[in-house]
Order: sequence, then C-alpha cells, then structure tokens
Amino acid sequence: MTNPENTPYRKITTHVLQEMKLRSQKIAMLTAYDYSMALLLDNAGIDVILVGDSASNVMAGYKTTLPITLDQMIYHASSVMRAVNRALVVVDLPFGTYQGNSKEALNSAIRIMKESGANAIKIEGGREVVESVDRILSAGIPVMGHLGLTPQSIHKFGTYVVRATEESEAQKLIEDAHLLEESGCFSVVLEKIPARLAGRVTSEIKIPTIGIGAGRDVDGQVLVLHDMLGITQKFSPRFLRRYHNLSEEIQGSVKAYINDVKTLNFPNEREQY
Ligand code: KIV
Repeated sequence: MTNPENTPYRKITTHVLQEMKLRSQKIAMLTAYDYSMALLLDNAGIDVILVGDSASNVMAGYKTTLPITLDQMIYHASSVMRAVNRALVVVDLPFGTYQGNSKEALNSAIRIMKESGANAIKIEGGREVVESVDRILSAGIPVMGHLGLTPQSIHKFGTYVVRATEESEAQKLIEDAHLLEESGCFSVVLEKIPARLAGRVTSEIKIPTIGIGAGRDVDGQVLVLHDMLGITQKFSPRFLRRYHNLSEEIQGSVKAYINDVKTLNFPNEREQY
C-alpha cells in the first residue's frame, strides 16, 4: 500500500499520532468489530481502528453498551487484528471490567493485549479512573481516554444528550483532560460536547483529541462504522454524516437474490458444474 506521495505507509503507532498532532495532520478513526470490515478499513488507509464497545449495540443488538463482556471484546479484537497491518488498533475496556478496581482494570487490559494482540486500550472517565489508567500504563499498555458523553454511564446521565454545556461540567472535563494527559494517556476521545469546549481542550493539551460530535477543532474524528455506512437506520444524531445507504443496498441485493431463487433465475447454466 502506498500513500499519495507514493512512499510505503508505515505502521501507525501512538508516536505517529503525536507527530500528526504536531504537524496539524488530522487523524481518521472508525470502529470495526470483524475481520472483513477491518481489512477494508486498513486497505483504505484508516489511521486508527477502534474495537468499540458499540459492538454491544451494532453487532449484538443491545440497547446500551453495558452487556458486552471482556471475552466478547477479545473475540472482536482478535478478528480485527487478523486483518490489520497498518492502522493502530484500540480496544474498549467494557463496562464492569475496570471501574473502581485498578487491579482488575490492569488484569482486563492485560487479557485484551495478550489474547487479541491489539495495540492499545480505551477507558471511559476522568478523575474516577486515573488510578486504573496509572496501573495499566505501568504495565506498558497504551491508554486512550474518553470524556464527555461516556455511554457506559448512561444510567447515571439518563440520556444521550450533549454533555458539558454547564460551566461546572465543562470545567471538570477540562481538568479531567489535563489529568489524563499527565497520567500518560496517548490520546483522548471527546464525545458529544460543545465544539468550543473541544477546541479549548485540544489547544490546552499536547496529546491528540479525537472528536465524535465535538466539532472540527479537534485533532481527529471517529464515527461508528455501521452509522456512517448507513447500515443502522434509526440512529440519526446531528453529528452523524452518512457516507452511504448500505441498508437499502443490502436489502435490495437480498430481495433480488430471493426473487432469482424463487423464479429459477439463479443459478443459470454458467453458474453450475
Ligand atoms: O464504542 C465506541 O464506538 C466508541 C466511540 C463512539 C468513540 O466509544
């Protein structure tokens, strides 16, 4: 694979992301949960693949991200890792595997790294998870933070509306971003917060920020693959740009196939032995 300058692409590491921030080069991140999609994303040149716990929603059909287990995340991450050569692969620590217990957090992170071969883990929260972040980092495992709307806390927030619109919450978010940076996180996701706040955080911290519903003044963007491809149909927040309408295309193809089978149009003579 070559880049536009026709030089071989190098493997994306946390250091490359840091360089990209210094050079004001935007970082493109998408989620993937399986081998075939990860292969397409990596071949297309995506910088970071997130094996998100959104797998709980888009792969397993749960309403929240809470039910997905560590074993299931490792299964998704291993499938992705078999496809990827270039992108940095980050895996979410699922709900219940790190909160309130830094030793358990370290064990969960080690299992992900050892059993899937992924490059880094992501963890939701600020001050509350700093002890876990420290412990995971002490084992040499790169950590990406996640602030703003943190879907694992949906039952605390009660809704998925935009976060940190109030001054006190915005102030805590800024402090949390600094704390995560000081702890040694290599990057932080900012989800569904005002664009001005995301821009301020991005200019104040030296590690790259990756936004989702956080405007353009961040160092990179992330979307859930199934949302941006138009596979999911009901989820339409303002920040989501759909690049395709795959749900219609897939259903159209399936309908054509059903019709061909039922009318004996498939297989034809050239499609048999
Ligand atoms: O799980 C996920 O897909 C995420 C992104 C929305 C950032 O955490």
